[in-house]
Amino acid sequence: MGKPTYYLTTPIYYPSDNLHIGHAYTTVAADAMARYKRQRGYDVMFLTGSDEHGQKIQRVAAEKGVSPQEYVDEIVASFKSLWQTLHITNDDFLRTTEERHIKGVKKIFQELYDRGDIYKSEYEGWYCVPCETFWTDRQVGEDKACLDCGRPVELVKEESYFFRMSKYTDRWLKFVADNPDFIQPASRRNEMISFVKSGLEDLCVSRTTFDWGIKVPMDPKHVIYVWVDALSNYITALGYGSEDEEKYRHYWPADLHLMGKEIVRFHTIIWPMMLMALEIPLPKKVFGHGWLILESGKMSKSLGNVVDPLVLVDKYGVDAIRYYLLREIAFGADGHYSEEALVRRINADLANDLGNLLHRTLTMIEKYFAGVIPEPAAPGDHDQELMGVARDVAQEVVESMEKLEISTALAAIWKLVGRANKYIDETTPWILAREEADRPRLRTVLSNLAEALRIIGLLLVPYLPTAPEKIWQQLGLEGDVRAVPYREAETWGLLAAGIRVRRGEPIFPRIDMKEALQGGEKKVTEKTPGVGEKITIEEFGRLDLRVAQVLAAERVEKSKKLLKFQVDLGTEKRQVVAGIAQWENPQDLIGKKLVVVANLEPAKLMGIVSDGMILAASDDEGNLSLLTVDKDIANGAKIT
Ligand code: ME8
Ligand code: MG
Repeated sequence: MGKPTYYLTTPIYYPSDNLHIGHAYTTVAADAMARYKRQRGYDVMFLTGSDEHGQKIQRVAAEKGVSPQEYVDEIVASFKSLWQTLHITNDDFLRTTEERHIKGVKKIFQELYDRGDIYKSEYEGWYCVPCETFWTDRQVGEDKACLDCGRPVELVKEESYFFRMSKYTDRWLKFVADNPDFIQPASRRNEMISFVKSGLEDLCVSRTTFDWGIKVPMDPKHVIYVWVDALSNYITALGYGSEDEEKYRHYWPADLHLMGKEIVRFHTIIWPMMLMALEIPLPKKVFGHGWLILESGKMSKSLGNVVDPLVLVDKYGVDAIRYYLLREIAFGADGHYSEEALVRRINADLANDLGNLLHRTLTMIEKYFAGVIPEPAAPGDHDQELMGVARDVAQEVVESMEKLEISTALAAIWKLVGRANKYIDETTPWILAREEADRPRLRTVLSNLAEALRIIGLLLVPYLPTAPEKIWQQLGLEGDVRAVPYREAETWGLLAAGIRVRRGEPIFPRIDMKEALQGGEKKVTEKTPGVGEKITIEEFGRLDLRVAQVLAAERVEKSKKLLKFQVDLGTEKRQVVAGIAQWENPQDLIGKKLVVVANLEPAKLMGIVSDGMILAASDDEGNLSLLTVDKDIANGAKIT
């Protein structure tokens, strides 16, 4: 028998803006769920993508003087790279401009038409361009404003195709009554039920006033309404309507559609009614999470209060950002984003509680047992409590995650972290080390702590993409921690004695709050400026320029250009390769203090790793001069 399947989706994103931390929120939460389900042994299909058609995109592209396709290509590339930076493990990425999707949507439209559920008529009513939403006269009221965003709507009158949505009202109400878990959280479910009960009209599903969209198959002067196009992605990505429907048969119906609350209505009313008309089973669950809000209101580009996730990851690391998003806000509710709260979480939970637990434990194993995890002796005081908490927490994580209470799951894991720290204080290993001859109690205590850390490392796999691996390695364990089944987090005592630990740097360094918040909260950074364009001080701040002293320098064999340096950056030594052999004699450079870019992605030059870049000035005459400092200053000093 094969593994059970789990199909989950994020919305597909509009390529209208740079993505901000609010967008990242949906995808990070979905990724945690996907990783959790993989750990639980599911065959997971995790889908995300981009929603590239519509009037709004056509307008923006025209303003920029590029074709819509060129415009979306560039933005979608930046989405993909953001998801990589956030270690998102999506199994597929669907673009609505892909042939597989376009074919599928045409098929769906044709099918609905053939079944008599789409018909041609005349549309007269109100349209909100930014929300891509139609409203009736009654709905927009006196002030002619969009019900979702409050912005002015446009009066449109055109020949259109309609979907007989009203026909499905009763079936929908029955389905929702029979499936109380379908719409979550419950508050949104009640909202949707009243919306449907207040009366549905047929849905206008085509437009003729712009053409950046999928053509209506039987009438190509119409394009298909963007929400019909977009929602269909959840099945076209699986090959629905193509020659190969194997994935569709394997994964559909979806187990979870995850999204922010403002688009729950589309996913719980239009989408299920389309599926009913197509006689396709409905997804099992639609969950609408809350918004990430700044002091100045919901994040939006037009308000100019967006927070760029790339800047944050660069500053604090991917684990910290993901942890903060998932832990700080009860999943489902709105939450306030603040960089200060983020730094507080990093310092308290990650650096202090978790980081110190690992560091202290391994330091003691090194000090008292030469770095080898000891064999436990007979159990003593507090051991049962620690084991009991570990057992309960593994259980609580499952219960919480099944309800999508992600922050509760993390809080549970921190109960174990806290219990283990308390266990150190209670058992006082440093005193045990003094008093005992063959140290049976000390062996038990340190073995239990290492075991608790093994379990913590495993439990953290869904949420933190890099720390569990570091915990694993520092504990001296082999293999990929992500491949270890959840069962092993539920079982106490799997860590074998005799393993040599590999203590490293603290996995979460403390952040200096004052320094971190200097210059205010970081804003979106624009793309690399051309000559003459200005950058902000924050953008400059992303460069980590440091003073590096040359310890050794030599020519790279078979290369006319390259020199290989070993440099001292104060806290660490690095190897850097530079193409300056025509200008500099390596011997003359030893001891010199140069300037390097310390946070450049490492690269290989002629097979040699270069971890950083040496700065030099060059002119049109072909002269080159290395940057140095004009007074002696400590190695590693920051250039600001
Ligand atoms: O709605 N806080 O795409 P999108 C929390 N293309 N979540 C936020 C947020 C915030 N401040 N801002 C955005 C669309 N999001 C459609 C979907 S699906 C068939 C079509 C979330 O790019 C938002 O709630 O506007 C949604 O889950 C996701 O970002 C994409 O939003
Ligand atoms: Mg939106």
